[in-house]
Amino acid sequence: MKDRILITGASGMLGTDLCLNFLKKYDVCGADLAGPKIKERCPAQVKFYKLDITDRLGTIKLINDIKPAIVVHAAAYTDVDGCEKDKSAAFNVNADGAGNVALGCKKINATLFYISTDFVFDGKKTEPYTEDDDTNPINIYGESKLAGERLVVQNAGSHVIVRTSWLFGKCGKNFVDTIIGLAKTRKEIKVVDDQIGSPTYTADLAKAIFKLAEITMAKPVKDIYHISNNGKVSWYEYTRRILEYAHIADVKVTPITSEELDRPAKRPKMSALNNSRYQKTTHDKMRDYNEALQEYLIK
Ligand SMILES: NC(=O)c1ccc[n+]([C@@H]2O[C@H](COP(=O)([O-])OP(=O)(O)OC[C@H]3O[C@@H](n4cnc5c(N)ncnc54)[C@H](OP(=O)(O)O)[C@@H]3O)[C@@H](O)[C@H]2O)c1
Repeated sequence: MKDRILITGASGMLGTDLCLNFLKKYDVCGADLAGPKIKERCPAQVKFYKLDITDRLGTIKLINDIKPAIVVHAAAYTDVDGCEKDKSAAFNVNADGAGNVALGCKKINATLFYISTDFVFDGKKTEPYTEDDDTNPINIYGESKLAGERLVVQNAGSHVIVRTSWLFGKCGKNFVDTIIGLAKTRKEIKVVDDQIGSPTYTADLAKAIFKLAEITMAKPVKDIYHISNNGKVSWYEYTRRILEYAHIADVKVTPITSEELDRPAKRPKMSALNNSRYQKTTHDKMRDYNEALQEYLIK
């Protein structure tokens, strides 16, 4: 009999790719806030459950009913500026929600993979962040996700925290699609040049989480990994690459500062992640984001 896995946020951008990857070997159950969305976006073999992770008893009960060997918790309130305006919603979903999933996992001895973010860092470092670097979030989203990490450590038994960054993928709203969309209607696009990070293709991240799950299967773990595509870039340079790979030449890209953009939530100036620990554990090298981006734009 196949091992069972539960993916929360299963109809989100990463969640959909996780479902696709884990179906190769596992009996996959998906859970998400909105029911019908998944039917169009997720493979038909995924057994879908409606779940609000802020409902503690409901979350614990669902995990207990399904009895997965692994839970990958990808559900989150991911609107960074939205979190800044509604701190209570951010903490309910990203912190308490993660804590609830962790309690459910502990009850049935399931291993929990919690997806976290580069935004737990303040961006003052010049080199990519390692798992041993101090966290110090500078916005509510980062604070709430870090609080989620702490509740996972506190409430779960076996767990793996996976921090990732700057996601793009087929099944969600993302920066790459936004730039392509803007290029259709504008002659000039202004993009910040003073924030640097590691763009990450959700298809690559899902494969990497699958590899880690295979390694950790059936043995208790307490670990943390940084997983992103290799390479670091500013949003401005990233935009130029997106347009180049999409063969769009007639749009001017102008660099601006974060102060000029003036968004509700502050962003770290440098939040690229160092993948060495993941690469050492799995003997798998995450590919460069340029290669992943070109593949994404072709498919
Ligand atoms: N996107 C990035 O650049 C990025 C970077 C670093 C880390 N991450 C982390 O990676 C993970 C996946 O991100 P993503 O971009 O794939 O997210 P996404 O597309 O926004 O998907 C998140 C899913 O969680 C669901 N959700 C929200 N509140 C919920 C609740 N109370 N109960 C159950 N489900 C709920 C959402 O449903 P609705 O759509 O119906 O609200 C959505 O389907 C998240 O943990 C995120 O924090 C993302």
